[in-house]
Amino acid sequence: MKILNFGSVNIDYVFHVGEIARPGQTISSMASERYPGGKGFNQSLALSRAGAETFHAGTIGPDGLWLRRMLDEAGVDCTALRTVPAGTGSAFIQIDAGGQNCIVLNGGANHENTRAFCEETLERFSPGDILLLQNEINEVGGLIDLGSRQGMTVVLNPSPMNQDIFSYDLSRIDWFIMNEDEGQRLTGQEDPENILTHMTKKYPRSSTVLTLGEAGAAAVCQGRIFAQKAFPAKVVDTTGAGDTFTGFFLARLAAGDGIPACLETASLAASIAVSRMGAGPSIPTLEDVRARR
Ligand code: RIB
Repeated sequence: MKILNFGSVNIDYVFHVGEIARPGQTISSMASERYPGGKGFNQSLALSRAGAETFHAGTIGPDGLWLRRMLDEAGVDCTALRTVPAGTGSAFIQIDAGGQNCIVLNGGANHENTRAFCEETLERFSPGDILLLQNEINEVGGLIDLGSRQGMTVVLNPSPMNQDIFSYDLSRIDWFIMNEDEGQRLTGQEDPENILTHMTKKYPRSSTVLTLGEAGAAAVCQGRIFAQKAFPAKVVDTTGAGDTFTGFFLARLAAGDGIPACLETASLAASIAVSRMGAGPSIPTLEDVRARR
């Protein structure tokens, strides 16, 4: 089973600050770095490091060719990653002393996908293959329709959550993988259990995975609820931890693991990611994760 991740690629400009800047404030950073990132890029890397046959589709500019090389080297098929004359997407990230972040995105080439390119790319895949999407590129709604009409299993990580999400035909989604805040905004419910119940009522043919930070993760699939505790970690940078979780969960699901095992592996992988700096570079391999068990 192939996994096509049609998603973003970003250059992450990271600034280490004592406290995240408030409106109107100018602050100095202690240090700054440039990392590979983008929810799409991070999830493709995580999928591949977790053992899945991964294809990454999307659009970068000439300044993003080093990111493409990194995906190639990780074994991700990048034959559907186009280069156009635009700037690669970027993210400006403040990380505070506790490892929490605040991210501002500039879409750049991530918003240059055309409907024809989406169609051509999906034609290469078959019913039963997985289509993974986040909300950092244009054409997400069109891709949901194309993928589901083609019989692909459509997985949506509705991140970043914005009004566009509500314009997509979410009844076509097979799996939602999202954090608590996204779950609250999608359902209007506060409590994680209510979010899962609401998702089942609203999207009866979909399954949902909810990441809950220090409270672990939960999932609902065919009326059954599953819970997973978080693994302790020394947090240095949470950027990319959710992407690591998504990639590992899906890769293990595609490999045939049961939901409890998928949740456990994904949570372990995320606990390693938060203990390392950067988004892409923090993503562990399956061997790293197995060694932590
Ligand atoms: O999820 C983390 C990612 O969000 C970062 O790598 C950044 O590029 C933003 O897309």
